[in-house]
Amino acid sequence: MFACEKLVPASEVFPFATSRGIAVGAFNFSNMETVQAIVAAANGMDMPVILQASSSAIKYMGFAYLKAIVSAAAAEATVPLVLHLDHGKDFAICKECIDEGFSSVMIDASSLEYDENVAKTREVVEYAKRFGVSVEAELGTLAGVEDEVKVAEGAAFYTDPAQAADFIEHTGITSLAIAIGTSHGANKGRTGNPKLSIETLKEIKKHVGDFPLVLHGASSVYPDEVSTCNAHGAELNGAFGITDADIIAAIQNGVRKVNVDTDIRIAFLGAIRKHLDENKTNIDMRKYLTAARTAAQNVVMRRMKTFVNAH
Ligand code: G3H
Ligand code: 13P
Ligand code: ZN
Repeated sequence: MFACEKLVPASEVFPFATSRGIAVGAFNFSNMETVQAIVAAANGMDMPVILQASSSAIKYMGFAYLKAIVSAAAAEATVPLVLHLDHGKDFAICKECIDEGFSSVMIDASSLEYDENVAKTREVVEYAKRFGVSVEAELGTLAGVEDEVKVAEGAAFYTDPAQAADFIEHTGITSLAIAIGTSHGANKGRTGNPKLSIETLKEIKKHVGDFPLVLHGASSVYPDEVSTCNAHGAELNGAFGITDADIIAAIQNGVRKVNVDTDIRIAFLGAIRKHLDENKTNIDMRKYLTAARTAAQNVVMRRMKTFVNAH
């Protein structure tokens, strides 16, 4: 069992966010540089942060390296850290992460029938609570690809507000991921930034009160970051994200965890492409990875400022 005293369950950071009317950032990581960037940003902002790994990121790093990297980062953290499994597709991966010492897991059974989603989520909650681990689950469907949980874009639907309250009551979860118009990845709108259904969110809030809500697929896909990539050889066509105005409205209406992966990927990529373009004889990976790490740290801070200023 991996015990790291700086790791706290997500249940310990939600009261911090709720009492301030802000959201905690949940950032995906895949390697040492992204962990360093996220924790340095959180230290700089003096904000708790959720470090999250998808099952494909876990596969890429392996538990041993992942835990060693997070342990090292935790030693340098001056803020609470949550280590969270993003989009766990079944009980087995959630159990594995809990056994490995994660302080929070997501069971994503949102593509199943409602009763099955409740049953699968309950099973994870029952196991997690023996170890004080938090559980996030999802109701409703985001368009796009949710890691190993594939969702056809045509099947996207919003969370049913009344069902949300029933789901929370019958599962015992810590937080609920909702679908109000976001999707994963860099191409969120077909012809421009998608508009979130803040009306649906308001209805959900009427039913669930202050219960912590989670917004997936919430990257901003900043045009300047996309331009840096494209100016240096990328072809990120039709890239659009969620506007800061929509993120702020979502936080003002009960979102307490905002998930960001794509913004880090784009910032990391842009910095590497730019560095390689401008330094054609460089063969030292530390040089372009330093640029990428700094870019990732800056974009995480940029997102955190939006989450903090939303109240
Ligand atoms: O929600 C999905 C995340 O962006 C994770 O993506 O499975 O490629 O790590 P990934
Ligand atoms: P983005 O693709 O918008 O960064 O969303 C990430 C996410 O929801 C991870 O669970
Ligand atoms: Zn997600």
